[in-house]
Amino acid sequence: MLILGIESSCDETAAAVVADGERILSNVVASQVLTHEKYGGVVPELASREHLRKINLVVGEALARAQIRLEAVDGLAVTEGPGLIGSLLVGLVYGKALALSLGKPLVGVNHLEGHIHAVLLENKRARAVGTTAEEAKLPAVTLVVSGGHTSLFRVEAEDHDDRTTFRYQPLGRTRDDAAGEAFDKVAKLLALGYPGGPVIDQLSSFGDPKAVDFGRIKMKGNPFDFSFSGLKTAVLYRVRGTNLAAEAEARRAWRKTVSGRVTAEELRAHCSPATLDLVASFQRAVVVDLVARSMAAAENAGVATILVSGGVACNSLLRARFNEAARAHAMGVFFPSLELSTDNAAMIAAAGYYKLAAGERAGIPLTGHASFPLGS
Ligand code: KG4
Ligand code: ZN
Repeated sequence: MLILGIESSCDETAAAVVADGERILSNVVASQVLTHEKYGGVVPELASREHLRKINLVVGEALARAQIRLEAVDGLAVTEGPGLIGSLLVGLVYGKALALSLGKPLVGVNHLEGHIHAVLLENKRARAVGTTAEEAKLPAVTLVVSGGHTSLFRVEAEDHDDRTTFRYQPLGRTRDDAAGEAFDKVAKLLALGYPGGPVIDQLSSFGDPKAVDFGRIKMKGNPFDFSFSGLKTAVLYRVRGTNLAAEAEARRAWRKTVSGRVTAEELRAHCSPATLDLVASFQRAVVVDLVARSMAAAENAGVATILVSGGVACNSLLRARFNEAARAHAMGVFFPSLELSTDNAAMIAAAGYYKLAAGERAGIPLTGHASFPLGS
C-alpha cells in the first residue's frame, strides 16, 4: 500500500511516499528557515505563502524520487493539526483536491501522532532489514518535544486480524513554552541565530554545563507537566544589563555584516567563555528536566519503553542522557534518525497508513485545527 504523505503545519513543506507504513520511498522537505531566520521565529503569513509556492514542487519531487506516477498512490495522509492554520490549509486543500481528482482515499493525521510514528516506522524497518535486534515494544511512554510541543503520552497498539490501531493517553504537557521554543528564544536573546536548538547544541560542547546552577524546575500539580518559561526568564536576568548583553549586541551587529549562514566555528569565535557556559548550563537544565519527567512517567505508567521524537530529539545531550537513564532503569529508549526527528511527511504517511488500513476515510469536511489534542 503506497501512501503519499503531506505535511505543512509549520515552516517545512514536506511530501513523502511510504510503502506499507514502513518503507520510505521518498522523503522531501523544503525548509523555510532562510525566510524566517531574520525574524528569529516563524512568521505565520510568510509561512503560508511559502507553502503555496512550494507544495506542488515538493509533491512532484516526492513522486519523482519514489519513481512512481500519481495514479500508483493508494491513499493520501495529510496533517490536520495542530499547527498554523494558514499553513495547514495549504496542505489540506492540496491533499483533498488530489484525493478527489484521483478517486483515492484520504485521512487527516494529528501532527503529534506523526512524530510518534517517526520512531515506530524506523524501528520496524530496522528490525525488518536486520540492522537492530531491539524492538520498540508497546505500550510505551512517548515524549514529543519540538518547537511547538512538549508532551508525554502513553501509547499502546491493538492488533486485529488485518489491522493495527493505536491508542494515546495524554500524561502531561507544557504549561507555557515548548522546550524547542525556549531554545529558540534563548538563542534570539543572545543573538546566536535561528533555529536556536541546533546552535545551542553545538556551542554547548565548548561551555561548562555546571557553570550556572539553574536548579531543578518545580511543578505544582501534575508531575508530568513541563514549564520552561521560568528558566528562559532566569537566562534573561543573567544577561540583562551585564557584559553578556553588550556582547550579544556586538554579535547581532556582526551577524548583519555577514551574508548567508555563519558556521558554528565562526559563531564560537564571537562568544565569550561566559556565554558558552550560560548556553551549556541552560541546555543541561532543559535536558535534565525532560529526561527526569519522562523516566518518572514511564515508571508510573509501568512501561519498559520510551520513545522520544520531535526536533529537540536531535539534541546530542538529550540523546546521551536518555540512553544513560534508560540503561540505569533497564528500559529501552528509541529515537528517530535526525532526518525524521524534525518535521517531515514520511511520519504522516506512516501514521496515515494504519488509519487507511483500518478503513478510516476523510471527506470534504476535513479541515485544519490550530489546536488539536491527541488522545483521551
Ligand atoms: O519538530 P520540529 O521540526 O518542528 C515543530 O514541530 O516545532 O522542531 C523544531 C524545533 C526548533 O525549536 C529547534 O530549535 C529544535 O526543534 N531543535 C533542537 C535541535 N534541533 C532542532 N533543539 C535542541 N537541540 C537540537 N539539536
Ligand atoms: Zn513537529
